[in-house]
Amino acid sequence: MEDKKKAAALERVVSLGSGADYWMTKEDSENHIPSLRMTDGPHGLRNQTNDADTEGVNRSRPAVCFPTASLTACSFDEDLLAEEGRAIAQEARDQNVGMVLGPGANIKRNPLCGRNFEYFSEDPLVSGTLAAGWIRGCQSEGISCCLKHFACNNQEYDRFISNSMVDERTAREIYLRPFEIAVKKAHPWAMMCSYNKINGVYSSVNRKLLTDILRKEWGFDGMVVTDWGAMHNRIDAYRAGCDLSMPGGMAYMEKECAQLAERDEDFRRIVEESAERVRDSMRRGARALSVPYSADYEAHHDLAGKVAAESIVLLKNEDSILPLSYGESVCLIGDLGDHMRYQGSGSSHVNAIRVETLRNELADLPYAAGYDVNGNATEQSIDGAVELAKKADKVIVVAGLPVSAESEGFDRTTLAMPEGIVKTVEAVAKVNPNVIVILLAGGVLEVPFADDVKAVLYAGLPGEAGASALKKILYGEVNPSGRLAESWPMKYEDVVNAEYYGEPRSDAEYREGIYVGSRYYEKAHVPVRFAFGQGLSYTTFACTDLKVDGRTAAVSVENTGTRAGKHTVLLYVRNPEGGYREVRKLAGFRKIELSPGERRTVMFTLDDRDFSVYEKDHWEVIGGTYEIEADGKRVALSVEGSELPDSPSWYSSLEGKPGRDDFEELLGSIPAVQPIGRGHYSMDSTLRQMSSDSKVAQVIVGQVCRHVKKACDGDDSSPEYRMLLSTAIDIPLSSIEVFGRAKQRQLEGLVDIANGSYGRGIWKEISALFGK
Ligand code: BGC
Repeated sequence: MEDKKKAAALERVVSLGSGADYWMTKEDSENHIPSLRMTDGPHGLRNQTNDADTEGVNRSRPAVCFPTASLTACSFDEDLLAEEGRAIAQEARDQNVGMVLGPGANIKRNPLCGRNFEYFSEDPLVSGTLAAGWIRGCQSEGISCCLKHFACNNQEYDRFISNSMVDERTAREIYLRPFEIAVKKAHPWAMMCSYNKINGVYSSVNRKLLTDILRKEWGFDGMVVTDWGAMHNRIDAYRAGCDLSMPGGMAYMEKECAQLAERDEDFRRIVEESAERVRDSMRRGARALSVPYSADYEAHHDLAGKVAAESIVLLKNEDSILPLSYGESVCLIGDLGDHMRYQGSGSSHVNAIRVETLRNELADLPYAAGYDVNGNATEQSIDGAVELAKKADKVIVVAGLPVSAESEGFDRTTLAMPEGIVKTVEAVAKVNPNVIVILLAGGVLEVPFADDVKAVLYAGLPGEAGASALKKILYGEVNPSGRLAESWPMKYEDVVNAEYYGEPRSDAEYREGIYVGSRYYEKAHVPVRFAFGQGLSYTTFACTDLKVDGRTAAVSVENTGTRAGKHTVLLYVRNPEGGYREVRKLAGFRKIELSPGERRTVMFTLDDRDFSVYEKDHWEVIGGTYEIEADGKRVALSVEGSELPDSPSWYSSLEGKPGRDDFEELLGSIPAVQPIGRGHYSMDSTLRQMSSDSKVAQVIVGQVCRHVKKACDGDDSSPEYRMLLSTAIDIPLSSIEVFGRAKQRQLEGLVDIANGSYGRGIWKEISALFGK
């Protein structure tokens, strides 16, 4: 009897390790702790109530849609991000949500990554610091943040099974660094582990990642949640430090875990500690939601506009064509300003409350579409735009990417804008010398017409109030102060990893090491279209003084123009020349507001990390003569320390692009790629992979396609269709089991059949059918 009671108690403890359904944890009735509701996302709530699964991705309770992280990063303003996080938390309180699944702190390794619009920057300091601001604001309302996607999740192609092969130094200095900063600075109460493998080990079962680094080194004491469907082996995951498997409702491997906990004391302790972390999260949620709360959505709409206005980047402003004055002869061109592009697709999609459009905001201006909602143009549509442009003194053309281009679940295929959009801008620029281009896109674009137009404004995906923010900038009511948080190359081929990023490789070789974004362009002397940190203002600023005393730097900045404005000081540490190191590393940034003629001094504190590299298992200060740099001024600083370790030659010379040999030398060895095909299928394979050898898999894939198409109202060209289909057929079979869509034996039967062991496979299918 005692034993039975003990076993039942253990089962209850284990069962807390997976959710109750798609969004909720289980309640702990014994301890009177109610279940916790989790909800996406990083720039507004996606609180699904009725269609509570992947298929209802776009049907959620209305909430304010803030600009996405690729734009908010350009604010370089941690406190602004805190304001946004706080407002989102207030909406969470209003909607009974105890944990928000965000922010995302993954590094933009390549500009084609489909989810770059959800991430902040190519730079670890910017990504980590801004994520920390967001978390601070959100958690100040008592609502938990779940920082994601930990870690090395930098491509959407094959995201469920891809293997990020990355050397330790690169991982520590670039890809783990934003998470480290955010964890140490803002103490998120939860962390989401990513789908992918890192050097062959899935994140959810990666003890080095989740326990050794996250908990022991960084002191994280919150709950680790899987990305939705990222659980692999529940026992290994417990041992790795993964607490909650989501989505829930499947009891995946719970029996095995309870049985093991019964006989193995160590494992029992792990499970109990893990359950306590889940309970802590639930208690926190319950506390935050114990008092009814009503959020001020209208005020949050205005805040979303403020965040956009503080982030939009003025990239070019020849002859000071901007700001415009009211009453000038100006026309507006471009369908993206009418069917306003303001957010991306996927799990971060917000059912916005009130979407503004540029066409409405600038309703007094004559308008022509130029191209259609998909970016296609005809001779006639372009002629319409040209005729309008001829009659105006100045032309605003809205360019960028259509909705179908940017989504979770797949990567972009090009940095080019649709041809119809480029042709429209070029045709208009031929007939009018005063063209102002607004770019709406969640990421980097090739801008072939940059030299033919007078002004370029990057507005990212500016959220539901982005249009009024743009209007304020166009007419000078707000002085632009955004700066690019990502480098914009001239063309895709200039990207360091262009030749080996993404499709068709699910083994992602991080061959370029630490040379991501500006770290590569600067060291390799590759010119870019728009540099990291670039951004103009309607006033001018000058750095009048830079002093370095020990580890303290003081920078004086003066507003030398005629308007009040905000300026971001970027403080760099320039490394001693040569070897495997970036030319300079961002060590701090601060945004300040100055009236005309006003001068202020900004202080920064440098620490050992700013002069260190990661060597084998520790940070090592490298000695030499450094330079501290701010706004073009430099001061030398001598630092005592060790010598820079040797590295394979490409990493010092950056001649050409990194080859496999260079990488092999850096990594030690590149593990052989697992063969895919008949005889090699396993529970780690996907339905899509198996369908090239198995008729049964083909039939299933066909059925899934039809089902998903129906769920997307018959539209198989939408980004939702592509993402949902991928979630069904690109996940490993083991995750299909976690999602509860099939039994283990059934899936094993499929694997046998795909491998050509028909008898065994069919037997497993039949026995699964009869519940054996
Ligand atoms: C995404 C996560 C998201 C989760 C729940 C996953 O597919 O990768 O970012 O939070 O779904 O919607």
